[in-house]
Amino acid sequence: MDAQNPDPQVLQEAADLLARGRLVAFPTETVYGLGANALDAAAVDRIFAAKGRPASDPLIVHIYATVQLEQIAATIPDVAWELAHAFWPGPLTLVLPKGPHIPSNVSAGLDSVAVRMPNHRVPYLLFKQADLPVAAPSANLFSRPSPTTAQHVWDDLHGRVDLILDAGPATIGVESTVLDLAGARPLILRPGGLALEALRTIVPDVEYSPRYAALAGDAGLASPGMMLKHYSPNAEVLLFTGPRQEVLARMAQTAAERRSLGQQVGVMIAGEDQVALVDSGALVTVLGSESDLAQIAANLFACMRKLERQGVDVIITRTFGQEGLGLAIADRLIRATEGRIIEVGR
Ligand code: TXA
Ligand code: MG
Repeated sequence: MDAQNPDPQVLQEAADLLARGRLVAFPTETVYGLGANALDAAAVDRIFAAKGRPASDPLIVHIYATVQLEQIAATIPDVAWELAHAFWPGPLTLVLPKGPHIPSNVSAGLDSVAVRMPNHRVPYLLFKQADLPVAAPSANLFSRPSPTTAQHVWDDLHGRVDLILDAGPATIGVESTVLDLAGARPLILRPGGLALEALRTIVPDVEYSPRYAALAGDAGLASPGMMLKHYSPNAEVLLFTGPRQEVLARMAQTAAERRSLGQQVGVMIAGEDQVALVDSGALVTVLGSESDLAQIAANLFACMRKLERQGVDVIITRTFGQEGLGLAIADRLIRATEGRIIEVGR
């Protein structure tokens, strides 16, 4: 459908499905979501079943108007309104004390609930038509890379959802930033499409300390979705970090080693990295320019899926700094490696 001007009849059909407790996959500016009526516990159960997602991993409730917040959260601190004003619609999810109308399976039994307002015309019109809050995780099978196109949703979930709305590729390509406002201090649970630097203009004291559970061998998770195995393609991922030239040299060396073992090797790099890896004999996928992290983020999950489809055994890639979207990109890659981060030159 046309992202700016979607067919009202299709939207009506989608809204009717939501009202009847069915599942509708829809585009957002971050990634595609798998939606159900957030007020209907049975409908929400269908989301967990369709994705194969553990019931312990809570969902985000999606809204189209800030007034809906009152229906979802028990209390709304001033800073939440400020953030909503500044960044909604957009890639920011707020975790707030849960109100009584939201069934407990939405938030996995927690006494908090996550809320976000996507910046996309299709969900805006759909939620308005249905006049419902919509619970939605990313529309991938559990632990797979998030879907940035309707084709990705189809590949993972066809036969498990009632309707997939296709409005073209997601523009941001990584999921929303999740900010916990239900605790004693504001805490980033997941870096995402809204940069930490932007958040700090409103919440200067926001805290972020990445905790990769399986990596640290830590059982007490801040956010249930923080478990390490996530965003994984069906290939081993090797993630290199450190000074750029040394990283590129190690990537080329590793590609050669793996090829000599008879493996199919894919590399996922910036355009500027190509000269260092053209001779590696690996399948090269360019994420975008190193000087444009938005482009790299937008292509990240699609490139993982592309290399996977080409049948590579291993994907060799690197981090792109910690600034702006670099933080979210690094986070998704660390999860895709399931901990195999290789620090070079230290
Ligand atoms: O951009 C996005 O956020 C996409 C689109 C579809 O909106 N959605 C998305 O949902 O990424 P999902 O379910 O894949 O990730 C939601 C994250 C999980 O890490 C989950 O643990 C966390 O939000 N979360 C949800 N509710 C929470 C809560 N009450 N407390 C702590 N974390 C919560
Ligand atoms: Mg997800």
